[in-house]
Amino acid sequence: MALNNSLTKKNILILGANSDVGISLLNNLYANGCNLFLASRNLVNLKKITKDKNFIMDRIKFIHLDVLSEISISSLFDSNIETPDIIISCVGYLNDEDSNLSKILRTNFEGPATIINRYIDQFLSRGYGTIVGVSSIAGERGRGKNYLYSSAKSGFTSYLSGLRSKYNHKNIKVITVIPGYIDTKMTEGLKLNKFITASPELVANKIINAIVKDKKIEYISFFWFIVAVILRNLPDFIIRKIKF
Ligand SMILES: NC(=O)c1ccc[n+]([C@@H]2O[C@H](COP(=O)([O-])OP(=O)(O)OC[C@H]3O[C@@H](n4cnc5c(N)ncnc54)[C@H](OP(=O)(O)O)[C@@H]3O)[C@@H](O)[C@H]2O)c1
Repeated sequence: MALNNSLTKKNILILGANSDVGISLLNNLYANGCNLFLASRNLVNLKKITKDKNFIMDRIKFIHLDVLSEISISSLFDSNIETPDIIISCVGYLNDEDSNLSKILRTNFEGPATIINRYIDQFLSRGYGTIVGVSSIAGERGRGKNYLYSSAKSGFTSYLSGLRSKYNHKNIKVITVIPGYIDTKMTEGLKLNKFITASPELVANKIINAIVKDKKIEYISFFWFIVAVILRNLPDFIIRKIKF
């Protein structure tokens, strides 16, 4: 875990903090001296984790958040947390595509984008802010196997890229994280090649490194960067042939 002074005392809001990537971020950012606002549907687990590790509770706030509920999103803004310096969205949902169109699109795109959009106004009036969105390699090209998840992630990637352009000169930084496979509860039960599957700790390290080094897009590894380039450029008839 890399320690970095530039993060000390920063207020960081993690959306979907109970994700495996979110928990790795929480451990890493706590060690870096950050104040953490943990927004999640599962606060019981987060409270247990932070208690078991004897974290100082003065530096941690818990906020219940379901990104599918407008009331829950509004209560995030009604809570007494300060405007964060950095927001990291780790929210995601990958599941049965046949019956979940709205849930998949709203969880992976609309929900996080709604929250980020509302914070943009606060960032603009304060004069700075950083947004980190965890998207996916699946968003680089429509995928037959999970076309709803991949289209939602495409939308989220595109949204983040648009934000980055729009606020380029306003001191608002936008970082898109594009992981390939990660060994988390989202991929539980899937047969993943371990050589190309990242741990949540590695992904958390890469996210923090991207913030510190002011990167715009983070692919986690060179392998996934190359995969992204290929996916974007392969002609459609090949994509159909390989049943991607
Ligand atoms: N695992 C992979 O291979 C992979 C690859 C590329 C990108 N990603 C992306 O990486 C990010 C982190 O995912 P992960 O791999 O760490 O998987 P994960 O542990 O399943 O995390 C997903 C998180 O999203 C939260 N979530 C789902 N619906 C929500 C809702 N309605 N309101 C609030 N939170 C909600 C879940 O909350 P609960 O904890 O309450 O269930 C969970 O914590 C996601 O954006 C995912 O799409 C993952």
